[in-house]
Amino acid sequence: MDKSVLYLISYGLYVVGVNDGERPCGCVINSAFQITSEPMTLAISLNKNNYTHTLVEKAGHFSLSIISEETAPALIGDFGYATSREKDKFANYPYKMLEGMPILTEKIAGNILCRVLTSVDRGTHTVFFAEIIDTLKGDGEPMTYSYYHKVIKGKAPKNAPTYQAPEEQPASEVRYRCTVCGYIYEGELNNEPDDWTCPVCGQPKSVFVRI
Ligand SMILES: Cc1cc2nc3c(=O)[nH]c(=O)nc-3n(C[C@H](O)[C@H](O)[C@H](O)COP(=O)(O)O)c2cc1C
Repeated sequence: MDKSVLYLISYGLYVVGVNDGERPCGCVINSAFQITSEPMTLAISLNKNNYTHTLVEKAGHFSLSIISEETAPALIGDFGYATSREKDKFANYPYKMLEGMPILTEKIAGNILCRVLTSVDRGTHTVFFAEIIDTLKGDGEPMTYSYYHKVIKGKAPKNAPTYQAPEEQPASEVRYRCTVCGYIYEGELNNEPDDWTCPVCGQPKSVFVRI
């Protein structure tokens, strides 16, 4: 089977937001889509290892902030490669709480508030079906998954439903590891321009350590 055909499926990028009782939490997802308009429902797929999964299951609601082309790539790294168990992801990004759910407010195309109706267990992931209870318009062009791959040069981590293991590459003697997402840079990183960023999580050169 040619698994690369699955890359032809289009997605957007979103931050699922949910409160853990003390602070806002959440993670990046690509797997969100509207399934009916009357009543308005959508579905998201969350990996069971994600803290966001635990919280959505418990709270029974979540917000979806629609990432735009103007959203800082580092936000995708912060929300998509770290866990809210260890880090206050919202600390560096403006947000507000609506109906107990955190929504990102700057450089975001829009926000959707959702109440979980039911869920389906799919092994590694749970698909949550939710009713849309409110929407808020933001600014900018929504970022597609294709834009994320082609323009930002981002990749999907293991917990994303679309993850595919990379082909083995011959190892170089000089290597650097991104301390945020674990991406390994083969070769001399100092040869890259100062504004070079991690192709996976968008962090600057300064977060890399030589290994
Ligand atoms: C581009 C991208 C797409 C992702 N898509 C999903 C997804 O659809 N579902 C999911 O459960 N995790 C997805 N992830 C992974 C989570 O964002 C990641 O595991 C995160 O660290 C979980 O954080 P948490 O433990 O605070 O919930 C994606 C990450 C990236 C960078």
